[in-house]
Amino acid sequence: MPPVIAIDGPSASGKSSTAAAVARAIGAVHLDSGALYRGLTVLALDLADRSVPAIIRAADQRGLELRRVAGDLVPFLDGRDAEPRIRTPEVTALVSEVSAQAPLREWVNARLRSAVQGAQPVVMDGRDIGTAVFPDARLKVFLTASPEARARRRLIQRGEAPDPARLEAEAARLAERDHLDSTRAIAPLRRAADAVLLDTSDMSFERQVGAIVRLIRTTLQLP
Ligand code: CDP
Repeated sequence: MPPVIAIDGPSASGKSSTAAAVARAIGAVHLDSGALYRGLTVLALDLADRSVPAIIRAADQRGLELRRVAGDLVPFLDGRDAEPRIRTPEVTALVSEVSAQAPLREWVNARLRSAVQGAQPVVMDGRDIGTAVFPDARLKVFLTASPEARARRRLIQRGEAPDPARLEAEAARLAERDHLDSTRAIAPLRRAADAVLLDTSDMSFERQVGAIVRLIRTTLQLP
């Protein structure tokens, strides 16, 4: 099995963009596990019956699967890249509820584990990668940032002005999702005991990517 680098952390901590840049820097494959939970949520939203068996049936029928696009493993649905469809506010509002269901977590985990093959290292980001999916990952990083910094980044990412009212509303939405993700019964969001904690509140994107790349090079003894 190739080395796995787990990057976990709360909503909008910058995991996915950081993990993608880190993977590019070390020639690894990037896999954003949240994208699969978002893919299942797209299916749930399309169903009248949102029961777990109905969602799993829809995933098989509509072919929700990971495919390699450049250096990333991304979710495909109905034979095309699901990316634009998984980032809507409707999906974001429902995804924590969907991802709290044990059989759906097992469905995702089976796909995450079978995606790790070949010789190329895999950088995987999520909530439970270092604690539940790959407890033996070669390196675990727990990425965090203050609620204010995370809300600001999310607004800027969406092209919205980070004025005080928007910042407050976005921080409240993030806090609600963090609460749901941290208090669920199965694989809650938490830092693994052996994860390196990186608070990026006052770090530039380049610095946080550089810090993780250095950690990986040391741990994996890469040139
Ligand atoms: O990018 P953002 O921080 O908004 O979240 P995401 O990584 O796209 O994940 C969306 C949601 O999927 C999270 O809020 C969790 O409820 C769930 N998730 C999870 O339960 N376990 C993971 N390994 C990844 C995501």
